[in-house]
Amino acid sequence: MAKKLYDEISNEELKALTGAIKSRYDIDFTNYETKSLKRGFARLISKNGMETLLDLWGKVLRDREFLIGCIDDLTVNLTELFRNPDFWVKLHDEVVEDVKSKHRTLNMWHAGCSTGEEVYSMAVVLEDKGMLHRTKTWATDLSSTALAKAIEGRYPATLVTKYEKGLIKYLPHKSMDDMFKFEDKHMKVKDKYKKHIDFHQHNLVQDKVDRKFHIVFCRNVMIYFDEYLKMQVLKLIYDSLEDDGYLILGYYDMFSNEAKKLFKVYDAKTRIYQKIGSAS
Ligand SMILES: C[S@@+](CC[C@H](N)C(=O)[O-])C[C@H]1O[C@@H](n2cnc3c(N)ncnc32)[C@H](O)[C@@H]1O
Repeated sequence: MAKKLYDEISNEELKALTGAIKSRYDIDFTNYETKSLKRGFARLISKNGMETLLDLWGKVLRDREFLIGCIDDLTVNLTELFRNPDFWVKLHDEVVEDVKSKHRTLNMWHAGCSTGEEVYSMAVVLEDKGMLHRTKTWATDLSSTALAKAIEGRYPATLVTKYEKGLIKYLPHKSMDDMFKFEDKHMKVKDKYKKHIDFHQHNLVQDKVDRKFHIVFCRNVMIYFDEYLKMQVLKLIYDSLEDDGYLILGYYDMFSNEAKKLFKVYDAKTRIYQKIGSAS
């Protein structure tokens, strides 16, 4: 059903609907990657028991709350604790070590943090490096429902074995009990890992950033953007990074030749880049 719906949505319809959403609500999906956006709209049509994009169209443009509730289906919130352990090892042993040797305090931005797992994975690294109390973290996402879950920091306990395997690959002396309080079917992030974090709704496509960071995470967010939008967001991140600041991308994020003028590769395998300073 969803596949058929996907095939039925034309590029023109997609363009018209995203244009209408933008002018009605000032929420801009116009340069999201076509295939993933069509999949998102097809998911929404089927989830809401509708038949065509036209049915969804009417509802979306009449009902702002409905549209806000649709954002998660349009953007995909998938995330995990300790995803890609090799990356966390590199971050722990080299990147945080480097920033720590140069700066007393560390400013971080997790752009597109979804439900917070990545932000809390970083908090464990910072604690292990003795930097947690010296770090300010700004964690942002477009989706207010994802952010509400991130602030709560409460995850299903069924995932504990999977997550623990990731954790002990890079911090073998840590256990999930250090990080979480276990309650019935859930595990809740301990408060000490939350104090340095400011979760905030922010749209990477439209909103400004008025501060500077030593490290910016933007993992698995730009995979949903077209080339034009990716470059816009990379420029925003470039301007918000301190000279020599680090940019962390996801393993499937693509990097264009134009972007290589802004960032140099620090480690290709783990997708860590560094800002090319204006003086370089
Ligand atoms: C696949 S998740 C990635 C989560 C996390 N960074 C990770 O890699 O585990 C992508 C996130 O990007 C967010 N996102 C999509 N478009 C955005 C935008 N324009 N501004 C801010 N966040 C956006 C989505 O809401 C979603 O939570």
